Amino acid sequence: MLRDALPKIITPLPGPKAKAVIGRRAKAVPSVIRCGYPCVIKRGEGAMVEDVDGNVFLDWVGGVGVLNIGYSQPEVVAAVKEQADRYFHAMFNIVTHEGYVSLAEKLNEIMPVKGKVRNTMFANSGAEADENAVKIAKSYTKRPNIIVFSGAFHGRTLLTMTMTSKKSYSYGLGPYPDGVYRAEYPNLYRAPKGYTREEAVNYYLEKLNRVFEEASPAEFVAAIVAEPVQGEGGFVPAPIEWVKAVRKLCDEKGILLIADEVQTGFGRSGKMFVSNYWEEAGCAPDIIAAAKSIAGGVPLSAVTARKEIFDGVTPGVIGGTFGGNALACAAALKVLEIMKRDNLCGRSLEIAGKCRSVFLSWKDKYEEVGDVRGVGCMMGIEFVKDKGTKEPYPELVKNIINEAALHGLLIENAGTYDNVIRFLCPLVVTDAQLDSGLNILENAIKSSAAKLKK
Ligand SMILES: Cc1ncc(COP(=O)(O)O)c(C=O)c1O
Repeated sequence: MLRDALPKIITPLPGPKAKAVIGRRAKAVPSVIRCGYPCVIKRGEGAMVEDVDGNVFLDWVGGVGVLNIGYSQPEVVAAVKEQADRYFHAMFNIVTHEGYVSLAEKLNEIMPVKGKVRNTMFANSGAEADENAVKIAKSYTKRPNIIVFSGAFHGRTLLTMTMTSKKSYSYGLGPYPDGVYRAEYPNLYRAPKGYTREEAVNYYLEKLNRVFEEASPAEFVAAIVAEPVQGEGGFVPAPIEWVKAVRKLCDEKGILLIADEVQTGFGRSGKMFVSNYWEEAGCAPDIIAAAKSIAGGVPLSAVTARKEIFDGVTPGVIGGTFGGNALACAAALKVLEIMKRDNLCGRSLEIAGKCRSVFLSWKDKYEEVGDVRGVGCMMGIEFVKDKGTKEPYPELVKNIINEAALHGLLIENAGTYDNVIRFLCPLVVTDAQLDSGLNILENAIKSSAAKLKK
C-alpha cells in the first residue's frame, strides 16, 4: 500500500508523463505561480505521493502544513462523500447547516482563546482568517491600527500582504492600507551577539514598546498579531517569556492579542495549538486565526474569540459566500475526531523527539547547520556559511531541496533569507518512512555542501 511505502524513484525526474503535464502547465498557468519540483501527483496516501510515472515520494511539506492528518485519510474521504451525497453548499446567511454549527461548537471547546464563552466564524483561507481577525479586533476596540512583526507571513490579500514582512510578496502593489506598524520578532538565534536569552527578550520587548512612541500610540492600536512559531519567516518560535510580557502589555493597554495559528495549528506543535502552551503559561491570546490542516485539505479557515468580542463587531462586516462550506465542515469534524482518537499530538511529539535529536547531531557534525529549533513537530534547520558570522546560505538550501527531491523526498525552504529547511511532515508518517527521509536528507546535505565547496 502506498500509505506504508518507502520513497522509490524509477524514472529520471520529471518522468515522461510528468514532463508533459509540466510542459502544459508552463503554457497554461502564469509562470509567476512558481513550482521547482519535478512531481506531478497521481494519488496520495498518508505521507506518501505517487506521481503519474509511478515514482513514489515521501512528502515532508504536506501541502505546506495542510496535511497533518495525511493524504486521503479514508474516514475523512468517506465523510466528505457522505456530505456530497446530501448537499455541497448552503450559504450560511440563508440556510443554516448543522455541520457549521457543530464545528463551531467543537472549536469553541478546544481553541484556547481567553474567555470561556466563545464564538467561531469560518472563511476559506488563512489570509481570510487573518484579515477577518483584524477586522473583528478593529471593530470591537474601535481602534484603527495594528502591530505586526519582522519575518511575518499572513497571506496575499491587500491587508495581509501589507502585514507580511517580505516585500517580494507585495512589490509594486501599493498604495497599501494604512495603520500597519511593524516591530521586531523575537528571533533568539539572530539577537544581538553575546546577549543572554533574558537580554534578548528584553531587547525585543523594548523594540515593541518603541512602536508606541514612534509609530502609533497604544490607545490607537487594536491588535498585536503574531505567529506563535513563524512559518515563512523561518520556523522561529516566540519565547514564552516574551509572549507573557506581550500579553501583559496588551492587558494594560486594551490591545487584543491575535495568534495566527494558520501554519502552527492542529497538532503540529505537539498540542492542538501553540496557544495551548501559551494558555498553560497564563498568556492565552484573545483571537486565534486557523486554517491549513483544519479540514485535511478541503479549503476552510476559522476565527475564534470570546463571544464578547464578536458581539462588539458591526453587523455585516464579516462573512462570505463559501465560508464554512458543508463539504469542508464535514471534513473538519472528522479530522478533529481522528486527531483526538489517534492521539496525533502525541505522535507529533514522538516524531519531534526522533527527528530533533538527529537534526541536533547534524548541527555538531556539519559546519553549515547553524541552528535547529521549533516547537513539537514544527522544526526548522537554519543553514549558514559560517557559524560565527551566521551568514545565510540559501544556495546550499536550494541545492539540498533539489537533491532530496531527486531521491524521493519533498522538502521546502523558509526564512527571510531562504536559508531554512522546514519540517512539516504529515503526522501519520511511519517510523520506516522517517528513517528513510532522514537518510535522504543527510545525504543531500553532504553532497550539496561538497558540491558548493568545489
Ligand atoms: C502563518 C500564516 N498565515 C497566513 C497564511 C496564508 O494562508 P493562505 O495561503 O491559506 O491564505 C499562511 C500561509 O502559508 C501562513 O503560514
